[in-house]
Amino acid sequence: MNPQKVKNGPNFMQQVNKKKHVDCALSSNSESSDDEVDEIIAIKKDVQKQRFSVSAEAYGQFNKKENFKAKFIPKTKEQSERIKQRMQAGFMFSALNNKEIEIVVGAMEEKIFHKAEYVIKQGEEGNVLYVVDTGELDCFKNYGKGDIFLKTYYPGESFGELALLFQSPRAASIIVKSDKAILWQLDRETFNLIVKEASIKKRQQFETFLENWDLLKEIKDPYDKLKMSDALFEKQYKKGDVILQQGQKSNEIFILEQGKVSVNKNNQKLFELIKFGEYFGDQSIVSGTVESFTYVAEDEIKLMYIPKKSYSSTLKEIEGTLMKNIQTKYGKYL
Ligand code: CMP
Repeated sequence: MNPQKVKNGPNFMQQVNKKKHVDCALSSNSESSDDEVDEIIAIKKDVQKQRFSVSAEAYGQFNKKENFKAKFIPKTKEQSERIKQRMQAGFMFSALNNKEIEIVVGAMEEKIFHKAEYVIKQGEEGNVLYVVDTGELDCFKNYGKGDIFLKTYYPGESFGELALLFQSPRAASIIVKSDKAILWQLDRETFNLIVKEASIKKRQQFETFLENWDLLKEIKDPYDKLKMSDALFEKQYKKGDVILQQGQKSNEIFILEQGKVSVNKNNQKLFELIKFGEYFGDQSIVSGTVESFTYVAEDEIKLMYIPKKSYSSTLKEIEGTLMKNIQTKYGKYL
């Protein structure tokens, strides 16, 4: 592997073959040298270690919450609505209730950046998180051998949470790609007391699943795995409930947590899903068609789900496997 170094700022960076670099940097299947494998193992360990320290620190914060006076920056109604819209688009704030959303919106501060400006520099201290309002920004990470392009951030996405969650230096650099970017900045204190608590609870709720779902083993970047929990939700159904109807387009990818789901076609039962981690609703999301089967709860069941809007930021990387699995699982019935 020979990751290209960032030499001349964003113009050079934009030419980088993005997908290839991420694969090279993070895939344990690529022809990595021993050093690189060590590097990847170190990142994984770091994320695991950080997860535990986060919990301890967050619980220390709980009793401070009652005395907390959140920062409040006056905004027009239009600005507040826009921030809410942006917050709904991503998953960093998905665990917040309405009151918490109001506090966070009040504390947000508008920041404007221009092309090629660094919003965040890897290694520096960080005290704020950003939500993208308009514009696009590129994220690069230096694993020790030069910067590697990781991803582009679009409106509604947020970044800069790791330094706040883990009290660590910035783990990557973020540079403005478009002519201009308008960002909403959230201070550490509001983040710690409002967003972090909700987000940690959510991560703990799905921890077992994240460690055990086979498909996630294919997601190479430990950071991406960690973020999966923000995009996961839970639903319960009663015996006989139709979860998803043949001929419909699904709005979610459902993952079986507990119970039995029957798979039916033209009112005929074909088979049952009974194992933890079996999933459905992916057919129409991955291939853009309608669902070929009706899924019915056979008893009291618990499902996790990933909303369609989060598909490209969570599972897109393993689209090939999902496609292949659709054929393996359902091919003979399609
Ligand atoms: P933070 O470390 O505070 O600042 C840099 C940000 O880049 C980081 O938070 C994340 O929000 C974002 N980022 C995106 N991808 C990664 C990655 N693979 N590793 C670390 N940070 C990442």
